[in-house]
Amino acid sequence: MLIAMTSAKGAPGVTTAALALALSWPRRAVLAELDPAGGDVLAGYGRGEVSAGGLAELELAARRGGPARHLDAHLLRLDAGERVRLLPGLADPIGARHVDWHRLAGALAAVDGGTTDALADCGRLGAEYFPREVVHRSAAVIVVTRSSLRAVRAASHAVAALKVESAGGAGAGPLAAVVVAAGEPYGEREIGDALGVPVLGALPRDDKAASVLSDGAPAGRFFPQSALLRAAREVAARVAEFVARQDALLSPPAETSAPAHRIGHGHGR
Ligand SMILES: Nc1ncnc2c1ncn2[C@@H]1O[C@H](COP(=O)(O)OP(=O)(O)OP(=O)(O)O)[C@@H](O)[C@H]1O
Ligand SMILES: [Mg+2]
Repeated sequence: MLIAMTSAKGAPGVTTAALALALSWPRRAVLAELDPAGGDVLAGYGRGEVSAGGLAELELAARRGGPARHLDAHLLRLDAGERVRLLPGLADPIGARHVDWHRLAGALAAVDGGTTDALADCGRLGAEYFPREVVHRSAAVIVVTRSSLRAVRAASHAVAALKVESAGGAGAGPLAAVVVAAGEPYGEREIGDALGVPVLGALPRDDKAASVLSDGAPAGRFFPQSALLRAAREVAARVAEFVARQDALLSPPAETSAPAHRIGHGHGR
């Protein structure tokens, strides 16, 4: 399933959250860096690694063939196995105007025949060349926000804009939020009430672990046990469960299976 992540404004930590969730995802996952302002993961977590693949080259290849066939060749491994992969974003944001988001959304919704989920870091909602078609194609849209009044206010405008688009038949999946640094000062429940969407969890302020993800600081042995990664495992499970539940609700009931089986079916899509 394709899951879009976006922010309202400022830099609440969408890229860091998307990377933490991808590394913690309960199934095989691809983190797709679609922020039209450019990708950050190779320069940050990748510690300056230069990629031969990525979004820009995928687009070039797509113009010669079709992205579904070529997507694999543009993915890099993010973990020791093949469980988590990265579609590196644009090194130069000038390329954003040339990306066919519609075509890319189709490819991301069907990675490995649908057995791998795609988490798309879409950057700031409303930015020029924002990957709107990817949001529309997503099974769920996650708005990432901090917990200050100004952050929540901006996020509520973003949620309202996304709801208007959905009401207009654009077809984006259900909306939810993830809070970065909850309790500064607002808590998850207050933020959920203000936004009018479910809050699927919070990632704590954890400067050390965040700098590993966003700026390539050395990970150290305890990185997997950091507060940020421990919370990311919980939030990833909740986001995956939310998407599967919505998917099951939208699927026509199967004659022979109970609702629990339909949820299982949703996981396998
Ligand atoms: N949970 C966290 N705890 C502490 N710092 C964090 C956390 N999440 C993100 N940050 C920090 O916030 C800064 C911005 O993070 P990030 O680049 O992920 O934001 P963004 O929303 O993707 O921004 P942009 O819109 O510019 O792409 C980085 O310095 C990152 O280390
Ligand atoms: Mg970002």
